[in-house]
This record gives sequence, structure tokens and C-alpha cells, in this order.
Amino acid sequence: MNKLVSIAALSLTVAATGNAAAEQLKPEEQILTRQAGYTFMSWNMGKIKANLEGDFSQQQVAAAANAIAGIANSGMGALYGPGTDKDIGDVKTRVKPELFTEQEEVGKVARNFIQAANNMAEVASMAESQDDVKAAFGELGESCKACHDKFRKD
Ligand code: HEC
Repeated sequence: MNKLVSIAALSLTVAATGNAAAEQLKPEEQILTRQAGYTFMSWNMGKIKANLEGDFSQQQVAAAANAIAGIANSGMGALYGPGTDKDIGDVKTRVKPELFTEQEEVGKVARNFIQAANNMAEVASMAESQDDVKAAFGELGESCKACHDKFRKD
């Protein structure tokens, strides 16, 4: 419970400062920043995966899950501003145009992802073994993939 409250508080802070900061970011900076966020989540997903395949450190899994949840709740939608739908000079983007038009579907996959990330953080905070986090981790990975399948170019 305490974990959840602190994640919620963290995400509020990040959302509040994140929006103000995003308004000042140029479109190419928004693209680079969202890619950095995804890359950082991916690194943390890799750490969790390694813990599921090798020795299990609850502390490491919980830290990685909290990092992912923090990003998931940070309001990344603000990094998809006008002009970020295509490459800008050397800054390439793989976003599909549908992300800017299919708002209902984007909202659905984004909500599923946030829910899966929060659930993973909650489960990881109490995990005693790999078995305790496997399902939540699988669901989180699926929620990443669901968005990529629809809104990211290969
Ligand atoms: C709501 C949609 C959505 C969700 C959820 C999502 N992604 Fe992505 N992801 C994208 C889009 C769109 C791009 C392409 C961004 C661009 O190039 O501008 C991307 C790009 C990436 C990249 C490449 C970053 C780069 O440097 O080019 C990685 C890695 C990645 N995502 C991992 C993840 C992981 C791991 C998760 C889940 C923990 C996740 N994504 C969840 C939409 C999503």
C-alpha cells in the first residue's frame, strides 16, 4: 500500500513538472526524450528478465519495476506534440501516423500499459520468488507489445 501511494505521488510530481518541461521542448527534443524513456524502460525490463532466469533479487526487481512505473505514469503523451509525427533532420522516429489519429485506441493501450506497470510494481514489492512476479511481468511485456504492434513501425 505504501509503495502504491509513493508511486502515485511520484507520478503526480513527474506529471506536473513533466508537462511544464514538455511545453518547452522542441519537437525533435520530444522525440529524443520519449525514445530515451522507452530505452530506459527496456533496460529495466531486461534486468527483471535476468532475475527471472537467474538468481532472484527482490530488491532489484522492485527497483526496476518502480522505475518502469514511474515512467509509465509520467504523462509521456506530452512528448507526442505537433510536429513529432515524422523525422526531423537527423532525428528519426518510428511512430505510426495512427498514434495521432486513433485517440480512443491509443488511450486504451496506454491505460492497459499503465495498469500493468503499476501492478508489476505492486507485485514486485511483495515478491518472495520468481513465481510471484512471472505473470505480472508477462502482462507488462504484452502491454508494451500491444502498443508497438499498432503504433510503432518495424
Ligand atoms: C502507448 C504506446 C507504447 C507503449 C505502451 C510502449 N511503447 Fe515502446 N514505443 C512506442 C513508440 C510509438 C515508439 C517509437 C518512438 C519514436 O521513435 O518516436 C516506441 C519505441 C520503443 C523503443 C525504441 C526506442 C528508441 O530509442 O528508438 C523501445 C526500446 C521501446 N519502445 C520499448 C518499450 C517497452 C519496454 C515498453 C513497455 C515497458 C514500451 N516500449 C511501451 C510506443 C509504446
